[in-house]
Amino acid sequence: MAKLTFRRAIQSLSQQTDGITLALLCAICLALAAWNWLAVRTTMQSNVDARFELRTTAAADKLAIALSAYRDTLHSALDRLALAPRPDESAWRTYAQSMRLAERLPGLVTFARCERTGDTIDRVVAYSIGNEAVLGPSGSMAVPRGTPTSGTVFTRSAPSTGRPYLVFLSDTSRPSTCAYAVADIDTLVHVAIGPLLHDITLTVSLQDGANQPAPVFDSLYPRAPGEPRPPVDYQAHASLPYGEKAVLFLTFTASDEFASLRGAGVANWALGLGLFMTAVTVFAWALALLARRRAQRLSEHGAIEKRRSEGRLFSVIQSVREAIITIDDQQRIQIFNPTAESVFRCSAMEAIGAPLARFIPERFRDAHYQHIERFGLTGVSERLMGRGRPLWGLRSDGEEFPMEASISQSADAAGKFYTVVLRDVTEQRQIANALQTSRNELEKLNARLEAVREEEKLRVARELHDDLGQRLTALKMDTALLKRALGDQTSVSGDVKRIEQSIDGMVAAVRQMAADLRPPMLDDLGLGPAIEWYTRDFARRYGVAVDFSEAHSLPPIPAIVATALFRIVQEALNNVAKHARATSVTIELSCDRECRLRITDNGRGLPPTRPKSDSLGFISMRERARLLGGTLEVRSPSEGGTVVTAVIPLEASPPDDSPAA
Ligand SMILES: Nc1ncnc2c1ncn2[C@@H]1O[C@H](COP(=O)(O)OP(=O)(O)OP(=O)(O)O)[C@@H](O)[C@H]1O
Ligand SMILES: [Mg+2]
Repeated sequence: MAKLTFRRAIQSLSQQTDGITLALLCAICLALAAWNWLAVRTTMQSNVDARFELRTTAAADKLAIALSAYRDTLHSALDRLALAPRPDESAWRTYAQSMRLAERLPGLVTFARCERTGDTIDRVVAYSIGNEAVLGPSGSMAVPRGTPTSGTVFTRSAPSTGRPYLVFLSDTSRPSTCAYAVADIDTLVHVAIGPLLHDITLTVSLQDGANQPAPVFDSLYPRAPGEPRPPVDYQAHASLPYGEKAVLFLTFTASDEFASLRGAGVANWALGLGLFMTAVTVFAWALALLARRRAQRLSEHGAIEKRRSEGRLFSVIQSVREAIITIDDQQRIQIFNPTAESVFRCSAMEAIGAPLARFIPERFRDAHYQHIERFGLTGVSERLMGRGRPLWGLRSDGEEFPMEASISQSADAAGKFYTVVLRDVTEQRQIANALQTSRNELEKLNARLEAVREEEKLRVARELHDDLGQRLTALKMDTALLKRALGDQTSVSGDVKRIEQSIDGMVAAVRQMAADLRPPMLDDLGLGPAIEWYTRDFARRYGVAVDFSEAHSLPPIPAIVATALFRIVQEALNNVAKHARATSVTIELSCDRECRLRITDNGRGLPPTRPKSDSLGFISMRERARLLGGTLEVRSPSEGGTVVTAVIPLEASPPDDSPAA
């Protein structure tokens, strides 16, 4: 009971542990997925940030280069004007074209030599790529208040369109000579950094003379009325100097779209994949747990079945009437059932663990030990012990007893086991011995009776032959004397003759009876002539042809054997006459170390049914042969008829102690 409770406790603990493990695994997988998502997202975010920064820095640098190109060009122009202060229109055009200004200065509209008077600039000679839209036809413009003379940038809207332009002004410290360049800011920005702005918004402000930023460019311009500005998720600022002072202020912005374009969604994919893997892992784990539980249940079921079958086997072992002893490969007793306890008069508690040799008489121990060892090597699963000879066991009180035993072997994880099933055959042996003794006595009695019968037959035959035969002979002689004394003429001579004939018949009958009881030639001439005489008589009496053939020279045959063989011939021929319906019989006799007698008829053969219980012919024939150590066989061959074969050894025949029967 305690064992059962413990097993249940272990089971419920194992189920709880499984639940906790599953929850833990689920949590770990979810945490890993979240961590993975976070890591990918952070990495992607920092990549996006870095790209945004890189892009804005590159754009700012390119714009700075463009500004510096404007400044350098104006410086060069001043240097040129220092050498030739008053170029005419064509010289200025030639100079501008030699400088390839259209290529170097993005968005350039006008490049002119000017003269500054206070805050007014007057155009002297100009090279325009497009129409001069900023200064208009007047050719002068006002410089914002506070504009330094060392070179600056300011905005000027086209009077006709209101469109802002950037005016780059050279050093105006010498009023007679200055130069300026007017740039279309839209063109400037788009030529300089257009490709960098496709997913970024740029606004540019210019610091005016009052140090107030004034918007001069918006990459979203122009846009449809009411169209909202995209949300700002990324933002960067930069300022561009012109000379010593920062004059242009750039603001780069971008929405989430910028991030998603750069694969920020990968993090979500990673999260999705992580969740999917979590689900798969948890599912797989749950399946594994289910499989384990199922395997556990099966193994528990198997264990219960095994216990049940062990229980059944144990009760069988306990209840069988045979003694069962199981030993291990060291021949130490492992199982000793109650029958073994009573056979060996030893309790199982005492026997288990003891060597098997304890229950074997000392003189057989070595042989027995080796027999079991050899049996273990054969691999044969079961066999009888002792090869049919009785074995001997030793009870715990020292008494030896005969037994029959069989041994079987089996093996399991613990090693090899031998199981000996044995039976105490003391009682059977006693019964068998008694039976054998009684049988021997019966045989002796039978032999004696047979001898007495033969003696009696001989005596009666002799009495008939000698006494009654002689008396009849004497009577016949008296009758002959009487007949002679009376002569032939008397009236009684006919009666005397009839008496004489009657006496002759009686003499013949007496002789026949004597011969039937014991043929005289069996004793006088031997077996061959006796059979010869008997067969001739049989053929005459029953009309069945008998062919008797005997070996040319028969050795001397003991009278008891000759009598037995003669009686067998007599019984066999009687059977032919009674049952066979045969027309011929063959008798063969040969003797050397044993006498072989075969009587074959061509009759209808033995019936398929067993002989009647009162039939004694075959029994007495077999018994005669057996008493002399021989055998007798009766069979019907397939071609028909019946064959009786008797074989009697001459050497083994008992001494001829019977009267010459
Ligand atoms: N030569 C034979 N041919 C056919 N059947 C035979 C022959 N000899 C014996 N049998 C059969 O075998 C049976 C047993 O024969 P067995 O000599 O033992 O007994 P039985 O002749 O019937 O009686 P009993 O010999 O005691 O007077 C017979 O009843 C007969 O049916
Ligand atoms: Mg018979």
